[in-house]
Amino acid sequence: MGKSQKTAFALAAAGLLVILALLVTDIMRREATSPAAAPSRPDIGGAFSLVDMNGQNVTQAQYAGKNLLIYFGFTYCPDVCPMALMHMGGALDILAESAPQRAASVQPLFITVDPERDTPEALAEYMINFHPRLVGLTGSPKQIRDTLAVYRVYASKVMDEGASDYLMDHSSIIYLMDGENRYLAHFDHNLPAQELAARLQQKLP
Ligand code: NI
Repeated sequence: MGKSQKTAFALAAAGLLVILALLVTDIMRREATSPAAAPSRPDIGGAFSLVDMNGQNVTQAQYAGKNLLIYFGFTYCPDVCPMALMHMGGALDILAESAPQRAASVQPLFITVDPERDTPEALAEYMINFHPRLVGLTGSPKQIRDTLAVYRVYASKVMDEGASDYLMDHSSIIYLMDGENRYLAHFDHNLPAQELAARLQQKLP
């Protein structure tokens, strides 16, 4: 390499470095101002079309303005579903003592993952065990499938060992949605009523 060649090479290398530095700065600036940096709401929940305990068609519009506390399960569930519903009912009663208006803004819903056995009548009978304001919703297998998809709930039939009947394996999450049926929070079904009430107090708008 001659002296002029060396100089040209050095200049080219320096030029490349400058370009690289500019590119990196630009990328960093774009990332800093990107709208994706804002906290985004999980894409959970949305429109549903179901059947209530009186056999009437119902959609999310029925509950517009109410904060929905939703649990998905089935009435034949031996343990997990009853526990979740007990905690939900208990939490609403506790909240009603300290913040009656907030408690009243909540509509508790139980949406079945087992529409074959959970008829409107079966749901009505089951709900009275837990809370007077709890509403059970069912629907056709397709209506239930669509609703589960919208709320990202997993449910699958499993045979019960030694029994003639089946059980449902299902995700066990309590959802809190706002008055426009948009996701606010979710809670574990194991959360005791007192704790769930405190979390509702925090998360309710
Ligand atoms: Ni269950």
